[in-house]
Amino acid sequence: MKHTKSSIWPCFSGLFLVLAVAFVIPVLSEGPPSKLVSTEWLNENLSKENLRVIDVRGEIKDYWQDHIPGAVYFNLETMRLADHGVPVKLTPPEASAIMLGKMGVNEKTMIVVYAEQNDYKATYLIWALDFLGHSSFGILDGGFDKWQKEKRPVTQDYPMINPVGYALPSKLNEEVRATLEEVKELVNVGSGILLDVRPVQLYTGEKGFWKRNGHIKGAINHFWGEDLEDDGTWKSKDELKQAYEKLGATPDKTIIVSCGQGLMSAHSYFMLKHILGYPKVKNYDGGFNEWSNIDELPVETETGKPSPDGEKLVNERCNSCHGLDRVHKARKDKAGWEETVNRMIRKGARLNEAERQAVVNYLSGH
Ligand code: HEC
Repeated sequence: MKHTKSSIWPCFSGLFLVLAVAFVIPVLSEGPPSKLVSTEWLNENLSKENLRVIDVRGEIKDYWQDHIPGAVYFNLETMRLADHGVPVKLTPPEASAIMLGKMGVNEKTMIVVYAEQNDYKATYLIWALDFLGHSSFGILDGGFDKWQKEKRPVTQDYPMINPVGYALPSKLNEEVRATLEEVKELVNVGSGILLDVRPVQLYTGEKGFWKRNGHIKGAINHFWGEDLEDDGTWKSKDELKQAYEKLGATPDKTIIVSCGQGLMSAHSYFMLKHILGYPKVKNYDGGFNEWSNIDELPVETETGKPSPDGEKLVNERCNSCHGLDRVHKARKDKAGWEETVNRMIRKGARLNEAERQAVVNYLSGH
């Protein structure tokens, strides 16, 4: 290509523009250290160009009264739509892309969502972003309540937003969403753990609004609010990890979280996926809303106890008298294991009936 004198000018003016923008509106160079964004981090980065703060509080009146400067209001209900007649499932990705673009968000924008302190609406949006494969996002830890308590800046002004195009990826991140088929498979084959995070009365069917009340067969109950302290902050990572492991929900397993309509379970999804870092967590947004309406699918009402984890029990209870190598060396069928485990119990191994069965099942399937 032939260079002329004048061809240098556009280069120069381009550079000038870049410099000007860099000085006027600093661009966010690094995301926050965690998916739970501190009020301090947000305060420091509020004016960065490629950051969008989204307010998903339940009441538009709250937003009118005051909100974080630059925050755009988003009515989360627009993310949920009937699908084949089943109410309130996640909207199609094309619709999500339009909504995000209208809020000035493209695939690379860093998004910080806030709601009331530890509400599940913020986590639902995060889960929807995960589904789109959007990687840069966080939730404001402590929500608007904490921001206010700390007397950080608020405004009544609306942000000036130019709509942009949001480009969907060629492949959606399907792993984070459980379909009806996947839940059926888990229930039939036991290929993972199904956690029902609704309040216990909905789980047992004592209360409920559906055609059939109760829970999906085999689901273990763990109320989402139990992950929080009384003041609404998250419990410590250690405490959360222990509580979930006690339920048998360990990181090696596929865990499907479910509730009435995918909202409360989004809260548990966020915790397991982004706070504890579990790799295989799926939110079932069809929820009991979808399952209970299909007559041939099994619904239970009794309080399901978490089935004990055989592998964990062996590791904990079978090595007080001899090494685990003795256990792993032995090759037996189910009846053989039944007999050995019973003998070990007579010798002093501590296992209740459910645990005994879990150990025998684990050893004979191994
Ligand atoms: C209170 C002590 C104690 C505990 C706890 C214990 N064992 Fe044993 N185990 C023994 C003794 C003693 C022997 C050797 C004598 C025997 O085989 O009965 C033994 C032997 C074995 C053997 C080799 C003999 C065989 O039948 O193949 C296996 C396998 C075994 N234990 C598995 C287990 C498993 C599985 C557990 C956990 C559920 C367990 N043990 C917990 C005391 C214990």
